[in-house]
Amino acid sequence: MSELRDLFNPRSIAVVGASRTPGKIGYEVLRNLIEYGYEGAIYPVNPKANEILGVKCYPSLLAIPGEVDVAIISIPAKFVPEVLEEAGKKGVKHVVIITSGFKEIGNVELENKIVEIAKRYGMRILGPNIFGYVYTPAKINATFGPRDVIPGGIAFITQSGALGIALMGMTILKGMGISAIVSVGNKADIEDADLLEFFEKDDNTKVVLIYMEGVVNGRRFVKVAAKTTLRKPVIVIKSGRTEAGAKAAASHTGALAGNVAIYMTAFQQSGVLVAKTVEEAFDWAKAFSWLPLPKGDRLVVITNGGGAGVQTTDTLAENGILLNPPPESLANEIRKFVPPFASLANPIDMTGMATEDMYYKAVRAAMENPEVDSIIILYCHTVITDPVGVASAIIRASKDAGGVTKPVVVSIIGGREAADAIKMLTQNKIPAYPTPERAASAMAAIYKYIKLREQVKLRLQQLEKL
Ligand code: COA
Repeated sequence: MSELRDLFNPRSIAVVGASRTPGKIGYEVLRNLIEYGYEGAIYPVNPKANEILGVKCYPSLLAIPGEVDVAIISIPAKFVPEVLEEAGKKGVKHVVIITSGFKEIGNVELENKIVEIAKRYGMRILGPNIFGYVYTPAKINATFGPRDVIPGGIAFITQSGALGIALMGMTILKGMGISAIVSVGNKADIEDADLLEFFEKDDNTKVVLIYMEGVVNGRRFVKVAAKTTLRKPVIVIKSGRTEAGAKAAASHTGALAGNVAIYMTAFQQSGVLVAKTVEEAFDWAKAFSWLPLPKGDRLVVITNGGGAGVQTTDTLAENGILLNPPPESLANEIRKFVPPFASLANPIDMTGMATEDMYYKAVRAAMENPEVDSIIILYCHTVITDPVGVASAIIRASKDAGGVTKPVVVSIIGGREAADAIKMLTQNKIPAYPTPERAASAMAAIYKYIKLREQVKLRLQQLEKL
């Protein structure tokens, strides 16, 4: 296991600067930690308090009787070096520094100082200038973000704090399961590559999502990301893609967003999937976290609307995926129950007359057909069928076919009822989206990952031969 093991599976966590006042960061971090159910020892540290939120408080780290694996620090910047000296003497392994006021505002000297102290004691620093971190398998929510993060397979590393917190909330709203959320801020010590090394081996993590402004050590990132790609997908939202954006990033976390072309080459070499928008990245991550990878490229699209089918075909083609006719065996099966004017090409268009029962039969047939490797299901809301009924038909079909054994993504297009249907599918871990393009893009990302992984494998094999 990587050396970050104790950060994610600590026996005890201290919160230095645990405040007595609700609404203050030190109070909210402690509250999240307690209420999310962390089962190790929790030690609030505040010289002015005896107890906070019913937990005994200590005047300093050194006054804590037990060992401390992780210390969360939420006190003003100028006091941080002193507390780090104490943490070092106490034998703390990881310090998570929430405090702002370091390199991001030009205070490089203070940042160098904390790095020097931590190095001297062999401590690792997460931050500074962060909102904390979450690791759901250990029931840790040491952030001042939303509390009820849903456990699941997505690890999310974010260089932006406020955006990261906002996205934390979005994962809850969208029903996305999270293994970890890590705010990396100024990356004074722990950087993306360190975290990738941990998540690569972490069985709780199925996909890694990184919001990145700049990278500290490009060469190392490429090497570690390539190794991670062999085991699981890594999605990067690279902000600062333009010169103007790069300038904005520099004044944000002090990151050098660097030359865009260099980044893109590095991502290409490491097999990383680059998402342009937050929405795209989350759509892909959802699909990767719930779906198996396809065994081949025989992709079938099932729809009740020609337009949705065409939009899907276009999006796939833009991503280098061309649809072939469906297998004869599937077309023959579906022909039995669809209207005579249905189209049995690919997309299979069951027409606007498609009923819940037709969806059930078609989806089940495609799922059970050994000549089908992956499925996109589209449904445009018509008065013939209720979207929730279609969603439940898809869920039943996948259960009756023995579970989701091949990748399947769904788009339910329509109004409020469509949103309810998407929610229902999401609760059943079937990735569903409100537009056909988003469903197609998620499926395309799956195929792109397989291709990238293959390229990385080849490159690594060639390197070994040199
Ligand atoms: N050890 C332990 N506790 C200490 C302490 C020390 N050395 N020094 C102060 N404290 C206590 C204070 O008494 C206070 O508790 P109280 O509210 O019960 O009195 C608590 O720690 C916090 O200290 P305070 O001086 O009130 O600071 P603050 O809460 O106003 O601000 C930070 C501290 C870290 C939140 C602030 O400096 C900061 O950096 N804010 C920005 C954080 C941020 O945005 N990060 C990036 C997010 S993406």
